[in-house]
Amino acid sequence: MMSFTKLFLLYLAIVCTVGFTKADYVAGVVEIETITGQNPNERVEGNLQQYVETIEKARDKEVQIIVFPEYGLTGKVESPSQYAIEIPYPGSATNFSNFWLTVLSNAAVANQMYVVVNLYEQERDKSNNSIYYNTNVVFGKAGNIVAKYRKINVYNEPAITSAGKNSIQPQSTFTTDFGVTFGTFISYDINFYNPAKSVTLNNVTDVVYTAAWKSRVPFYHSISTQHGYALANKVNLLAANLNNVKEGLGGSGIYGADGTIFDSYISGVPGTKLIVATVKNAQPETPFTTFALKAIPGHVPTLADFNASKYFESHKYEFRKINLSRSAIKEEVCQKYFCCSFNINVTENSVNNSDIFKIMAYKGEVRVGEIKDVRICALVSCENDDVKSCGGRNVKTTTKFNSITVETNIPDYPHQYVLPISLTGEMVPVRNTKMESSVKKSVRNSKYWATDVQQENLIAFGFIANGGVVVAFNNILLVGILYITYWFV
Ligand SMILES: *[C@@H]1O[C@H](CO)[C@@H](O)[C@H](O)[C@H]1NC(C)=O
Ligand SMILES: *[C@@H]1O[C@H](CO)[C@@H](O)[C@H](O)[C@H]1NC(C)=O
Ligand SMILES: *[C@@H]1O[C@H](CO)[C@@H](O)[C@H](O)[C@H]1NC(C)=O
Ligand SMILES: *[C@@H]1O[C@H](CO)[C@@H](O)[C@H](O)[C@H]1NC(C)=O
Ligand SMILES: *[C@@H]1O[C@H](CO)[C@@H](O)[C@H](O)[C@H]1NC(C)=O
Ligand SMILES: *[C@@H]1O[C@H](CO)[C@@H](O)[C@H](O)[C@H]1NC(C)=O
Ligand SMILES: *[C@@H]1O[C@H](CO)[C@@H](O)[C@H](O)[C@H]1NC(C)=O
Repeated sequence: MMSFTKLFLLYLAIVCTVGFTKADYVAGVVEIETITGQNPNERVEGNLQQYVETIEKARDKEVQIIVFPEYGLTGKVESPSQYAIEIPYPGSATNFSNFWLTVLSNAAVANQMYVVVNLYEQERDKSNNSIYYNTNVVFGKAGNIVAKYRKINVYNEPAITSAGKNSIQPQSTFTTDFGVTFGTFISYDINFYNPAKSVTLNNVTDVVYTAAWKSRVPFYHSISTQHGYALANKVNLLAANLNNVKEGLGGSGIYGADGTIFDSYISGVPGTKLIVATVKNAQPETPFTTFALKAIPGHVPTLADFNASKYFESHKYEFRKINLSRSAIKEEVCQKYFCCSFNINVTENSVNNSDIFKIMAYKGEVRVGEIKDVRICALVSCENDDVKSCGGRNVKTTTKFNSITVETNIPDYPHQYVLPISLTGEMVPVRNTKMESSVKKSVRNSKYWATDVQQENLIAFGFIANGGVVVAFNNILLVGILYITYWFV
């Protein structure tokens, strides 16, 4: 008979594994440079071979779930007819009439791994005409399909039918045998409340994200957006991007719900790259800084040839130059009734006299896919006094910031969607950021303020807010506060 102590320990073990803690797991994301091939079959089969080899490599690193990017099997094509296939809904079947699905299913079984891929999906409408979707498919370890998701927010994809702005897709979430519930969506979707925020409302703690994301500086860079998403929505994010450095496609990563970057990858050298990291699930009581201290590991990128173009309609924005000779800067900039206030601490003696930083506010439309009603607050670096020179990736500055706080007066309404954005000259986000939401103006928890570490080579730091209903300005309601603090390790 078991002693009471043994029983109690057993109870604790069960409670700890099932009830409170989620186990850590090993994730792989793959940045794919697609193989082109002579014809559709050759192209997809070339890429399938590349997938299977990568899955085998990932198994050696004990990966439990692997994510491949949007268009990774087919490339982006004008006419999907020769690439699109029928994809069953999740179920237990492991026998597929399509050869590509069979290969992927077999790889999932042989390597005992969840496999997330993106495909062109074909469906017949009532008149037997073909409709094409941009679809994520997840295979479980038994080789069956465990989730399927159709892209909602299509972008420059005239042949693709959207799943519908209000589409809710319960079959797009899945719970793994390692106890984690995942949601999934695709590329441009990350900018929108549905599905990017709404998916996290259904017990989803982790997201698998496929993208063919063209980076645009300063506000729409792949890695900044991915990092900002994880941070703002408090979910772990596994993000796989397509690789085409000449077109500015690239930047993948594995991010923690507290903004930790477990690993990320961006390079100016074309190629396929598997990155692997252990996703650690912080305990609720774990202080934020425990993970954040790990900062950005690994890869020193070779970035000269990564062609991230600039999208910055500076003539529409409201700017104010900041005086870097003052170490403590408290300033506000408004456009119409939309205001951004900044609290900035500059490290003394770090400023090169030619350094120029401006704070800016913008409320309007963004032509990256025509997002209506965007509000942006940011601190940006500039080459010279002309605002056209701001936000470029080649601005060189020596100024170090001990801390930056950005606050906005975005009203707190339903379907509001806010992403923090930051970018340095290394094309990665700044370290150790913390985003807080509050309706009180007094939320300035001193434990998040800086000690003695600085960030340099800053290109942009701020917020992007999308969506929601436009309501009257209300100066007392205050939602976003973005803290930036640094610790040396
Ligand atoms: C798979 O097997 C089931 C059960 O044997 C069968 O009903 C189904 O038609 C098969 N599907 C395909 C695509 O072969
Ligand atoms: C629909 O069209 C396809 C391709 O043209 C054809 O093979 C199939 O038999 C048609 N199905 C029906 C129900 O008409
Ligand atoms: C979330 O999980 C709880 C507890 O397991 C369950 O009762 C609830 O139905 C789930 N909600 C959804 C939307 O799946
Ligand atoms: C970089 O991208 C821009 C915009 O997409 C394009 O116009 C330009 O030709 C590209 N440059 C190179 C060297 O490919
Ligand atoms: C910037 O701040 C310094 C220190 O407070 C002050 O001496 C200087 O006049 C300011 N420059 C401008 C242009 O306001
Ligand atoms: C300051 O900037 C100028 C112009 O960019 C540069 O030539 C100079 O080397 C910089 N000084 C330092 C100390 O970095
Ligand atoms: C700026 O930061 C430094 C280093 O953390 C600190 O010593 C100093 O007091 C801060 N200055 C202001 C005005 O907050």
